Amino acid sequence: MRILGIESSCDETGIAIYDSENHHITHELYSQIKTHAPFGGVVPELASRDHIQKTLPLIQQVLQKSKVTPSQINGIAYTSGPGLAGALMVGSMIARSLAFAWKVPAIAVHHMEGHLLAPMLEPLQPTYPFVALLVSGGHTLLISVEKAGQYQILGESLDDAAGEAFDKVARLLGLSYPGGPAIEKAAEEGDPRAFDLPRAWLEGTWSFSFSGLKTAVLREVRKIKSDGLPLPVADLAASFQAAVVDVLIGKTLAAAREFKAKEILIAGGVSANRALRQAIPEQAELPVHIPPISLCTDNAAMV
Ligand code: KG4
Ligand code: ZN
Repeated sequence: MRILGIESSCDETGIAIYDSENHHITHELYSQIKTHAPFGGVVPELASRDHIQKTLPLIQQVLQKSKVTPSQINGIAYTSGPGLAGALMVGSMIARSLAFAWKVPAIAVHHMEGHLLAPMLEPLQPTYPFVALLVSGGHTLLISVEKAGQYQILGESLDDAAGEAFDKVARLLGLSYPGGPAIEKAAEEGDPRAFDLPRAWLEGTWSFSFSGLKTAVLREVRKIKSDGLPLPVADLAASFQAAVVDVLIGKTLAAAREFKAKEILIAGGVSANRALRQAIPEQAELPVHIPPISLCTDNAAMV
């Protein structure tokens, strides 16, 4: 079976073909970072217009690269949500139109379920039941996974998602968009203990909260600026990153113990973060699965 996957929920046009016989994946990604960078965040209308321009040429490119013809495609999977309404509409309309023309089923896929199951594209697959931490720009979810399709959401963020906190704090520090990779890079030169930033443990719940941490960074920035001192960007980035990583890991490990998980899985854009990728296997007593970076951030292979 060969499935064409289309991802267009935000600022990346992703196209993939997955062949279930040889597990071969051909995938291509067009990132709109350059389009949105001058605005410091994603401009939804520009995102939709760009998806219109890029989706069909990218599909053609992936068909050519994988040496697959449309008649060999057995189904078209597309991200149906959550995401930017206009961007999702472009992907879903192209997917459904092609499915109609090629007389194959169109399969609507939940974007976060795509992230959750991305590690299944790897040769070494996680064993059920596992606890998954999904950390992206729009969501922070802790999920107990009995098997594919059987999920119990244990907790989520009450305010900012983890990725959103990275993006907002990056802006406070004058770093470029997208904020996650910019903070990670700045943090390399910084001391994670330089600033004692709060960790919202929200004891007794599996929920997360990152807005207090963001406000704490804002207060430090204002104080330093009003004192007329230069902003210690690297130290602030490292301290912020350490606070986020501590809470994400602490709560995930506790949930894995409580729900008797056999393994731990981390996915979503923030799982590309090297501090998180390094720290969790060091602290966990269970096997940890994190997809390769290209499958952590948005892509169509997972779809
Ligand atoms: O999953 P994703 O690509 O798109 C959404 O579904 O939202 O996640 C994007 C988020 C952004 O907030 C971005 O700043 C964050 O993932 N991110 C990172 C890193 N790479 C991407 N956060 C921390 N460290 C990174 N290296
Ligand atoms: Zn995503």
